[in-house]
Amino acid sequence: MFEKSDPTPLVAIEDELLQEKNLKLYIKREDLIDPEISGNKWRKLKYNLIKAKEQGKEIVLTFGGAYSNHIAATAAAAKRFGFHAIGVIRGEELNENSNPTLRKAHENGMQLLFVSRPDYMFRTSPHWLSMHQQEYSAFIIPEGGSNHLAIQGVKEILNEIEIDFDYITCPVGTGGTLAGLASGLHPHQKALGFASLSGEGYLEKEVGQLLSPEFHSRKEIIHDYDFGGYAKHDPKLIEFIQEFYNKHQIALDPIYTGKMMYGLYDRIKKDKFESGKTIIAVHTGGLQGIAGFNEKYGLELKA
Ligand SMILES: Cc1ncc(COP(=O)(O)O)c(C=O)c1O
Repeated sequence: MFEKSDPTPLVAIEDELLQEKNLKLYIKREDLIDPEISGNKWRKLKYNLIKAKEQGKEIVLTFGGAYSNHIAATAAAAKRFGFHAIGVIRGEELNENSNPTLRKAHENGMQLLFVSRPDYMFRTSPHWLSMHQQEYSAFIIPEGGSNHLAIQGVKEILNEIEIDFDYITCPVGTGGTLAGLASGLHPHQKALGFASLSGEGYLEKEVGQLLSPEFHSRKEIIHDYDFGGYAKHDPKLIEFIQEFYNKHQIALDPIYTGKMMYGLYDRIKKDKFESGKTIIAVHTGGLQGIAGFNEKYGLELKA
């Protein structure tokens, strides 16, 4: 289960701006890890599903929004590795045909339970969780897959990087990816997380809970590039994503990796990195969500 022989590629980015600022930038192409269990989802699901198998569970239950990459990846992973998957989806008005993400999850055999926004708030309540655990005898994976088992998987990204670097960056949604990266760094290195939703204070708390105290100072969350909140965007962001694709042939999504790269480039322009440093940006995947995004907003972003 979750066998893979090669590391994901580490691609050097050539750019006049990087030359001018004397910085090296690489993208760790986690988006290429698997066509369906993409990016950080592969890393976060790996030890969760291994644990579920060890516990003899046949059902995995998890949570997500209408366009959730985590729902898409869990459905695909459950199908591939022989689990029945249940997805608790935020939005009672939705159904399995509401968008390409839910359609595909349903096609992959995931049972979708649509709940109201107030009910969805119970997703972290111990009472509600134990009720569902008993009802379905399921292995429960939290929203976004972020728990201690996810940290173990995300840390493995670092084992594949053979060059020395100063900064490693990722988008932040539920915080597991940033916590996983920070927890494997050396003291001279820092993990920079770019918040994809408005959550100052809240995100720090979430990441802090997943991280042992000695690693707290190895991470920082940057809140300046959330574009007003989750899935919010503006023409500047869309233009940046299109230009980045035209220049480097690397697709970015407008919810996570697009905001991270936009923020990273802006900080490079504003001299937030000292000359001579090496930065690795983790491409956490999420390209499956672009179809739904294009459909909703009438855009033509490449996936
Ligand atoms: C493509 C993508 N990148 C980054 C993230 C953020 O990761 P995390 O939830 O671990 O903060 C997510 C999901 O939340 C995602 O789907």
